[in-house]
Amino acid sequence: MAGLGMRAVRLLLASITIVCLLQAFAQPIVPALSLLTSGPNFNITDLVASFAAVGLSAKDMVALSGAHTIGKACCDTFLTRLTADADDPTALAAGYREFLSAQCSTGPATDVMIDLDVTTPVRFDNAYFSNLQQNLGLLHSDQVLYATAGSTRQQVTLYAHHQSAFFQDFAAAMIHMGNISPLTGSAQGEVRKVCGFVNA
Ligand code: HEM
Repeated sequence: MAGLGMRAVRLLLASITIVCLLQAFAQPIVPALSLLTSGPNFNITDLVASFAAVGLSAKDMVALSGAHTIGKACCDTFLTRLTADADDPTALAAGYREFLSAQCSTGPATDVMIDLDVTTPVRFDNAYFSNLQQNLGLLHSDQVLYATAGSTRQQVTLYAHHQSAFFQDFAAAMIHMGNISPLTGSAQGEVRKVCGFVNA
């Protein structure tokens, strides 16, 4: 029960982080929360559709997923990956799966936190994308960007080789995301002084 409480608080905090990153401070928190709860298991079609529903392109979606170059996720967001079929193109690299299985056995799956970017967890860089090329994507929703042949895979390959292309597209996608239904004017919304709290 305590684990579930912790998980709820963490999901809420991660949602706030994302909503803050979106700079869409007046956006409702519920859509971000629902992306966090069911999104990690989304396939590429689900992901593209969920971003398209708010006017963001598949290109924006891949660039923005690069935000997972920092931060952590708890074990229950990727537990199914630990027992998945090794022949599946989204399967974790064998050594990484063993590492994660060991880490996730040290406590409740809702409490143990794992770096989203196993290579450079506290650096904002393009390692998230080169990780995907080696099946080192932590979430299923990360790995599907590369596992499925097509434009998202090509984009991952581009970013893995050209960090500057990632930085440029990430900045543009952040602006696209920040423009989703902004609530302007004192009657509708406000730019928060502290991201997680309504201004006093
Ligand atoms: C593509 C769809 C996305 C899915 C399915 C997704 C899913 C998740 C999940 C499950 C977590 C871990 C939450 C936890 O266990 O507490 C997470 C963390 C995080 N996400 Fe995403 N996310 C997505 C897109 C984004 C976007 C667009 C951004 C920002 C531009 C973002 C930034 C982050 C950050 C910074 C963290 C780490 C939070 C922390 O360390 O507390 N994510 N995401």
